[in-house]
Amino acid sequence: MHLTVLDHPLVDHKLTVLRDKNTPSNTFRELISELVTLEAYEATRDLTVEDAPIETPVAPIIGKKLSKPRPMVIPILRAGLGMLDGMTKLIPTAEVGFLGMKRDESTLDIITYANRLPDDLTGRQVFVVDPMLATGGTLVAAIEYLKERGAKDVTAICIIAAPEGLARLKKDVDPSIDFKVVVCAQDEKLNENSYIVPGLGDAGDRLYGLV
Ligand code: URA
Repeated sequence: MHLTVLDHPLVDHKLTVLRDKNTPSNTFRELISELVTLEAYEATRDLTVEDAPIETPVAPIIGKKLSKPRPMVIPILRAGLGMLDGMTKLIPTAEVGFLGMKRDESTLDIITYANRLPDDLTGRQVFVVDPMLATGGTLVAAIEYLKERGAKDVTAICIIAAPEGLARLKKDVDPSIDFKVVVCAQDEKLNENSYIVPGLGDAGDRLYGLV
C-alpha cells in the first residue's frame, strides 16, 4: 500500500473550515468537492495515456490522451456521493459505479446492499471515494469486492484517515493489488464510537443532514 497525505496550505485552510462544527452544509459540500479535486490531481498521476495526433492552429503534434478502458470512479454510499462531482470535474470521461455498504449490527459483518458496477473490472484503474477512513472495515470489504471482479489497480481517496484504519488496510488488503491511498490528513485516533478524533463528525450527516 502506498499512502499520500497532501501537504499544501490550501488543503490546510479548506480542511480547517470543513472541520469547524459551525460550517453549514452548503459550505461543507463545496469544500469537500474542492478538496477532492485537489486530491484527484495527486491520485491520478499514474493514469495511462496514449499518443493522440492533433493539429494546433500552428502545427501538427503528437499529444497525449487518456487511454481506454476509461477510469472508474466508485463512491461508497452515502457519504462518498459528496465526493463524486469533485472527481468527475477533473476526470469528465470517467465512468461512475456505485457501491452501498453497511455494517450488519448483529454479526458486525460488512454487507453490500447496493451495487451498480460492471461485472468485469479487468484492466480498469479504479478510484474508490469515501470521506472518512475510520476502522477501514468498509474499504477492505469494498476492495475485496472489486478484486473479485478483476480490479488490480485501486486508489482510495478519503478526506481524513485514522491510524487504525490505515493499519487495517495495510494488513488486510491483498498485496497482489496495486493499492494506493490519498488523504488530506491523518488524524490522531478513533474514539469509543469509532469516530475519528478530532475528525469532523459524521460526514454523511454534515453533507446531507440527519436522516
Ligand atoms: N464516519 C464518519 O462520518 N465520521 C467519522 O468520524 C468516522 C466514520
